[in-house]
Amino acid sequence: MDRFLVEGGHKLKGSVQISGSKNACLPILVASLLTDEPFILHRVPNLRDVRTTLKILTALGKKVTYENGTATIVADGQLKNTLPYELVKQMRASFWVAGPLLARFKSATIPLPGGCALGARPVDIHLKGFERLGATCATEQGNVVLSAQTLQPAKITLRFPSVGATQNLMMCAALIVGETVLENMAKEPEIDDVAAVLTHMGAEVFNDGKGRLVIRGQKQLHGVEHTVVADRIESGSYMLAAAATRGDVRVEGCVPEHNGILLECLQEVGVPLEIGKDYVHVKPYDTPLKPLRIKTAPYPGFATDLQAPWMTLMTLANGASEVDEDIFENRFMHAPELVRMGADIVTEKSVARITGVKSLSGAHVMASDLRGGFALLMAGLCASGMTEIERVYHIDRGYENPEGKLNALGAKVTRYNPDKDDF
Ligand code: EPZ
Repeated sequence: MDRFLVEGGHKLKGSVQISGSKNACLPILVASLLTDEPFILHRVPNLRDVRTTLKILTALGKKVTYENGTATIVADGQLKNTLPYELVKQMRASFWVAGPLLARFKSATIPLPGGCALGARPVDIHLKGFERLGATCATEQGNVVLSAQTLQPAKITLRFPSVGATQNLMMCAALIVGETVLENMAKEPEIDDVAAVLTHMGAEVFNDGKGRLVIRGQKQLHGVEHTVVADRIESGSYMLAAAATRGDVRVEGCVPEHNGILLECLQEVGVPLEIGKDYVHVKPYDTPLKPLRIKTAPYPGFATDLQAPWMTLMTLANGASEVDEDIFENRFMHAPELVRMGADIVTEKSVARITGVKSLSGAHVMASDLRGGFALLMAGLCASGMTEIERVYHIDRGYENPEGKLNALGAKVTRYNPDKDDF
């Protein structure tokens, strides 16, 4: 398995181009199941999770091509409505196929996604929503078996604004004639991108201004050509890497308002920013970083996906900070690895208390999830000496060509595989 060798001590300088959003393109690729017409998606990042999703679409009977960031999905005979466990176990988001398959076939059998490093991650909100639309949901031998005589539009209130459940239910409702209303739905920018695609496909999907998502479904949906929105988690990650190395980096091709609260927090701790229409310039600074307390929350709150990279920045602040992870029950696996690099972090239930240190030192560490992996990569950039990061495949799930983008900014990150390369 690949590892990263990181030589610390190089400030990041220059500009970095942000890729299309992983968390928008995964559900949008799945939306291609709603139509037999050609479906073309641009700015699709070359990520492990994207390749897994394309394999899932192929396994379900679609013909898929992917080159130069464009995925083209066309019908290739009859679609299947069961998914092999092999693919689901690799990626929880494969469960998003449930909505489209249920809508098209009135039945679907999908392996229950297991938990993951972040915690149990049940799908009860998805299933309750499908039941409100008229489906029966049973779990048999680790599969979710969905079936419905007919599906009808409904008003669904989510007990928690789950991103995946919102997207799954939007896609299902897009093929149910009539008006489905989602209340307490997720408001992440990726939801807007999925809504735009479903609208271009012929369903009317809009926010009614009262915090409700209205989906006016149709009997049939058309193909679409769409360009994926910029990845706000990648852009936030590079802003944090620039700030942690006290570098001078222009993060380009992003949507600054999608990083709203992060920009406020960065300025509050003393990182100077120049915020443009489609870029954020993280400027150099030599004043001490101020500590800060943050709490993760559904959008527009502090993104849970940026909690780990943020924690790395706070390990270098001048004083005591706090991170309260309120979305996932187990998202501090990067903390003990940062402690091995000299950070001072104490975690207790959902709160991590970070006491800033002068500097970090390189060490041999292991990534446990994609954002925690990037947090360790950031720490390696700031640390003195060499850092070796194992299980880089986690980082490859959510960051396109990370070492290429970082080395173009002056970092020294080498990817190698100890089983293959005699490094
Ligand atoms: C999406 O996951 C993202 N993944 C995650 O990004 C992101 O961290 C998460 O939203 C929150 O923003 C994709 O979009 C592919 P949720 P999702 O349903 O949809 C609980 C990354 O780093 N829950 O909003 O799975 C759940 O256990 C990844 O790119 C239920 O209890 O997240 C969690 O505690 C990691 N029942 C919380 O809600 C349900 O039916 C938020 O989950 C569904 C969720």
